Amino acid sequence: MAILPILVYGDPRLEAANQPVEDFGEELQSLIEDLFETGWEAPGLGLAAPQVGINLRIATVDLSVGKDPEARVVLANPEIIFCRGKASLEEGCLSFPGLFTTIERPTALRVRAQDNGGRWREFEAEGLLAQTVCHEVDHLNGVLIVHHLRSMKRRLFMRRVEKMRKLGVWQSTA
Ligand code: NI
Repeated sequence: MAILPILVYGDPRLEAANQPVEDFGEELQSLIEDLFETGWEAPGLGLAAPQVGINLRIATVDLSVGKDPEARVVLANPEIIFCRGKASLEEGCLSFPGLFTTIERPTALRVRAQDNGGRWREFEAEGLLAQTVCHEVDHLNGVLIVHHLRSMKRRLFMRRVEKMRKLGVWQSTA
């Protein structure tokens, strides 16, 4: 297992196309371990492969941040089947370190994804899990929190991004 450098906003790999996972062999298993470990270390609730520079449709979610092995979710080739409800929720992203904004997210959803062994699973998620799954699936589609913001809110957020950059707080370790 290894802790991988997390790319920050501006790196083109965060917005590039992600290829479907086809090979569930050893290399993928070690990537999954690394995503979990990197997420725990950050710490964050989830991490998507493009955030560590690997443009594959895989992400990990662990709301327990390493405390509960049962809470670990692997999302390979995920598809959101339906969404229910709407809520304005505070959200951050490890690729925008230190910044938070509010985004409208569904309150519940149903997702279909392959697990670490390539088996298709379908499950429903609510609340924070639904929000986190949406966030990670967004990453796999090249969508970042800033893309959800419109007009004034987006300009204000981008001003904070520029400030972080100028202060040198955001130094990509990659
Ligand atoms: Ni993120």
